[in-house]
Amino acid sequence: MSGKGGEEPRGHRAATIGIHAGSPEPVLGAPVVSPVVQSSTFIGGAGEPASELLYSRYGNNPNQVLVGEKMAALEGTEASLLLASGMSAIAMTIFAALPEGGHVVASRHLYGATRTLLEQELPRRGITTTLIDPESSEDWEAALTPQTGVLLLEVPANPTLRVFDLRVPAEIARDSEILLAVDGTFASPANIRFAELGVGAVVHSATKYLGGHSDLVGGVVSGSREFIERVQNLMKLYGPAPDPHMAWLLDRGLKTLQMRVAQHNHNAMELARWFLDREGVVEVHYPGLPDHPDHAVASEIMSGFGGMLAIVLEGGGVAADAFTSTLELALVAPSLGGVETLVSQPRHTSHIHFSEAMRVGIGIPDGFVRISVGLEDVEDLKEDFGRALDGLR
Ligand SMILES: Cc1ncc(COP(=O)(O)O)c(C=O)c1O
Repeated sequence: MSGKGGEEPRGHRAATIGIHAGSPEPVLGAPVVSPVVQSSTFIGGAGEPASELLYSRYGNNPNQVLVGEKMAALEGTEASLLLASGMSAIAMTIFAALPEGGHVVASRHLYGATRTLLEQELPRRGITTTLIDPESSEDWEAALTPQTGVLLLEVPANPTLRVFDLRVPAEIARDSEILLAVDGTFASPANIRFAELGVGAVVHSATKYLGGHSDLVGGVVSGSREFIERVQNLMKLYGPAPDPHMAWLLDRGLKTLQMRVAQHNHNAMELARWFLDREGVVEVHYPGLPDHPDHAVASEIMSGFGGMLAIVLEGGGVAADAFTSTLELALVAPSLGGVETLVSQPRHTSHIHFSEAMRVGIGIPDGFVRISVGLEDVEDLKEDFGRALDGLR
């Protein structure tokens, strides 16, 4: 079983937990950095059944366990499990929560692949979904059926940066004994304390801020020990277990999570304000801006507004293509949360399978450019974006 968080012995704070939680007791001569245990299997007792079979697909390799313990401590949950990707973390969470015939009520504002999973893949397994605009408790309640076992949303949402108030579904989930699952990838545990807000299953694509260096693919689910055990049992069957080396890289990334995210928050806020005054930029989406539709909620539930922002360019898709193709420092690539600034147009990447009308319906018009603000000097980023905007005139 991975992760026994909530047991941080000395009540350490997040930056300390990110560095030390999960590490073995320090003993003379032990390495300061836990080594990669690149072994698929482990020797068991001969002639008698082992209490626990150690096998890396089961999620009990030492590197997997260390990251599970660290993540649980960071989230403040009983347990956490590391999986092979964010998508496998989402899929296994839904499978673990629902029987055949189960029903999900989900926000319409989700990462494209999550929506495709809900709308196209899960119905083949007898699981149906109602998509809603999660603005109020009536929106959630109207969609509930006796089969509803999961409420699902992303906070902040990819790529529109909407910050829906997760305390609303949290209350419904508590009253109705339904699992509230939240994809917190854009926030990371450094910006939102999900479990404290009533989230039952906190899911992250570890590929993004948790790893932080665009060099791994992974996912994490955190929640009660009983629920994480169910997810782990499904991981054993379906097989999306993490490689030990990925777990080791993720542990290294988590050691600097607080520091990195603080600087991502700072750079993104600075750039968002700067974009407001730029000619050719018709919209700036950043929860830290006072005129963002969810600024009040974001101010209450986020300790920082995150490293993701989006702009909409005058001139639509043509302008966005020209803008992104003339950037010299920011890289055009999908994914996010790494030290380098990445830009993408959701119509070409995460929301490529959506019609234009569907995209516009959730606030992604042509001309929408998503920016994962990295850790470069923000003045260099302004110069790069400024040059690309000048080129549009
Ligand atoms: C919000 C969000 N959730 C989940 C995922 C899927 O994560 P992964 O690529 O690690 O499977 C992504 C990927 O971009 C994402 O942006």
